[in-house]
Amino acid sequence: MTLATRPEISVRAAVAADAHTLAALSIQVWLSTYTEGVSDLLARHVMSEFTPQKFLALAEAPDVSLQVALADERLIGYAFVRYGVRQPLVPGADSELCTLYVQEPFTRSGVGSALLHAASADNGKLWLTVNAQNLRARRFYEKHGFVVKGTSWFVLGAGRHENLVLGR
Ligand SMILES: CC(C)(COP(=O)(O)OP(=O)(O)OC[C@H]1O[C@@H](n2cnc3c(N)ncnc32)[C@H](O)[C@@H]1OP(=O)(O)O)[C@@H](O)C(=O)NCCC(=O)NCCS
Repeated sequence: MTLATRPEISVRAAVAADAHTLAALSIQVWLSTYTEGVSDLLARHVMSEFTPQKFLALAEAPDVSLQVALADERLIGYAFVRYGVRQPLVPGADSELCTLYVQEPFTRSGVGSALLHAASADNGKLWLTVNAQNLRARRFYEKHGFVVKGTSWFVLGAGRHENLVLGR
């Protein structure tokens, strides 16, 4: 299905009232992207990481850009950038693209690109990390001019997961 057959997609800055939908969508996208089956560890991680309270704080934080994509007033994705976070592997970049999530039925329709564009508008130079196994996201960022600058690690319980540090 293409955007032409879908409800109109819009992108805007998040507001406090988006906090619950942001938390719910985050849990769905994170689990479907990174897991096969839900362990107690994974459940505790998403339930503590993606809470309405955290998104409420982000929506009101001065050092953050939180952009949401909507279809018929329903959340379908978001981008979260934090300003003033330096990454030694990407000199000159001082804004981290912390999260870019699109709900699966709306992927490959330009929503991620629209969110990245909106998130980039306020920020000079972005850097980000992406799971090395996440080939779809790597292709997406490559298309948008990001290149690999180095490696970092995401640690969860006893697991260490290789992340690539990207910049452009
Ligand atoms: C990665 C993600 C944000 C991309 O968003 P999206 O809305 O699907 O991306 P777009 O439709 O704007 O795609 C833009 C370009 O990225 C590339 N791309 C996107 N999905 C792709 C795929 N499945 N295979 C190959 N290339 C892909 C293509 O070059 C595409 O351009 P094209 O459709 O004209 O060929 C989205 O797939 C997503 O949220 N995935 C789950 C969560 C995730 O992995 N987030 C990133 C964590 S760092």
